[in-house]
Amino acid sequence: MMGAVRRLLLALAALASVAAANPVTTKEAEYAAALESASCGDSAEILIAVGDVVQFDTRHLLDDGGALPRNCVVTWRIAVEASGLENYGLEVSGGLELSDADNDETCASSQLLITDQDDAGDNTAITQTLCGVRAVRYLTYQDSVTVALNVSVGGAEGRGFMLRFSPIFACGGLLRGSPGEMVDIETPLFPEPYPRDLSCAWEIEAAVGTSLTVSCETFELLSRRRGACSDYLMVEQEGELKFFCGHELSGLSKSFKIASSAALLYFRSSARLNPAPGFTCSIAFD
Ligand SMILES: *[C@@H]1O[C@H](CO)[C@@H](O)[C@H](O)[C@H]1NC(C)=O
Repeated sequence: MMGAVRRLLLALAALASVAAANPVTTKEAEYAAALESASCGDSAEILIAVGDVVQFDTRHLLDDGGALPRNCVVTWRIAVEASGLENYGLEVSGGLELSDADNDETCASSQLLITDQDDAGDNTAITQTLCGVRAVRYLTYQDSVTVALNVSVGGAEGRGFMLRFSPIFACGGLLRGSPGEMVDIETPLFPEPYPRDLSCAWEIEAAVGTSLTVSCETFELLSRRRGACSDYLMVEQEGELKFFCGHELSGLSKSFKIASSAALLYFRSSARLNPAPGFTCSIAFD
């Protein structure tokens, strides 16, 4: 019993801190209104800009007695608007109240599902299935999240959820520098293993005559298999493509120069699970 009370207090505190943290802009109010227009059997979808946060809850679903409707499924999809070369993921936080006496540990009866699965064949999805009274924390480096609330035929107690979605920078971008300057790039989550199924593109732009030196203090990707890199850093300069993986660029002795003032660096991770921390490299403009 004490455990349940404690969990409830924690979830309520999470709801309150989410509500207090952010003044709502007109655009954010519009996002919330679009999401809160979905009722049982509906789905709603919004595209949010980098820098915006979206917060919404399920109070609009409650009946006159303040209860969640039985046998009700609603689906919401929140996606981040593409922003040039930069790649963004989403962080989801909030609280859940969905207590169904018929639930087991897998929340098979009434549940809140959060996933970044983008099609049926996506086997790298991060999925959480939640129920009860608890805080919600979810993070993905994919650019969209789907949330589905499923209240069973038997019904569930609680007010559902309040969730907040904020875009988080993953990787990529335009890198500009003048002679003597240096910029750093790294894989998302470094030095934790980088996410699966991700691409990052960095375009380098410098004044004509500038030479670029790329050096990687750490470079640890999955190693080549049968000569091919499944996860790689690709370097494109003057139309020529080079692929690096494993430890092939690790350490200052593996530094290389790019003689032109424009280059593209492209990181791609495959669907394979990996324990590798990725890379942290710097690009010096001379
Ligand atoms: C909702 O949950 C019920 C079990 O309570 C399940 O039979 C049904 O398929 C689920 N609906 C959706 C759309 O996931």
